[in-house]
Amino acid sequence: MSSLRVTRTLPEDATDAALRADVRHGLTVNPKTLPPKWFYDARGSELFEQITELPEYYPTRAEREILTTRSGEIAAASRAGALIELGSGSSEKTRYLIDALTSLKAYVPVDVSDSALTQAGQALVEERPGLEVHALIADFTAPLALPETPGPRLVAFLGGTIGNLLPAERAKFLASVRALLVPGDGLLLGTDLVKDERVLVRAYDDAAGVTAAFNKNVLAVVNRELGADFDLDAFDHVALWDAEQEWIEMRLRSRTAQTVKVPALDLAVDFAAGEELRTEVSAKFRKDGVSAELDAAGLELTHWWTDAEDRFALSLSVVQ
Ligand code: SAH
Ligand code: AVI
Repeated sequence: MSSLRVTRTLPEDATDAALRADVRHGLTVNPKTLPPKWFYDARGSELFEQITELPEYYPTRAEREILTTRSGEIAAASRAGALIELGSGSSEKTRYLIDALTSLKAYVPVDVSDSALTQAGQALVEERPGLEVHALIADFTAPLALPETPGPRLVAFLGGTIGNLLPAERAKFLASVRALLVPGDGLLLGTDLVKDERVLVRAYDDAAGVTAAFNKNVLAVVNRELGADFDLDAFDHVALWDAEQEWIEMRLRSRTAQTVKVPALDLAVDFAAGEELRTEVSAKFRKDGVSAELDAAGLELTHWWTDAEDRFALSLSVVQ
């Protein structure tokens, strides 16, 4: 028999308090910025799933290619009894790992998106009899209280989501993951790789406008949760490549001079015509950089796999 447990490790009002703090800070600093985790309400999670199917958005297909060809090797190197997945979303690609990990007893998906977690968890317990699924509604940038599971633990952080953290956030995050691991445990990390700027920009500015809708969804979240009056049509989606930082930046550019009210914060926010609000960075990596960041967190890169076109990499660090 399989079973699904869902635990909310965020205090009841934490999302609200954290959203208020992020919006107050982000809309009153110069340049304006909002953290990408607020994209992912039910609609945002759905839009992300649509993005993964777009012809321009290669990372999901490239990572799936690696997982289909390398899951056996990953399973042999990790021998995991428990798979903890951070930012698991639909857990779609994870199924290759779950199937390859023959000693797997427990799967612990961790996500801020309630809807994505419960849908994925339900589907998995139905599809995989015998698998314990313990879903955690939690913010992976905060200290994680993981459930007791059989070992060894394999922590998976797929999709390139690590690239949505700024460098200092990444260092803190990797150190906190390392602190969860004991010898024999491992980290499986998906990183999108530096490539031709045109390919990158197209992946974040698709012809059908799905990424634009995903980007603007953060404004819809602030409207719904904090009573703000953002007019989504008054902002343009912007995706640009920062060659120095080697990251894609998504922004929302105000079409006109306008004032947006956020009643829950008693805030009126002025936007100049053309002013941009940064909503996401998506860093792209090189092998040396990934290895150095892992090293700084006390993790050693033990395996490195890429897809046939070297677009995306999966790395494994097993703790000695
Ligand atoms: N791993 C999946 C989904 C990637 S989308 C894939 O590779 O396709 C990024 C996921 O991370 C979303 O489901 C989002 O809700 C989640 N997420 C983003 N920021 C988060 C945070 N701070 N804490 C927990 N989950 C987060
Ligand atoms: C979740 N994350 C890895 C995606 C990315 O590619 O940075 C989010 C995304 N943003 C725009 N498109 C997809």
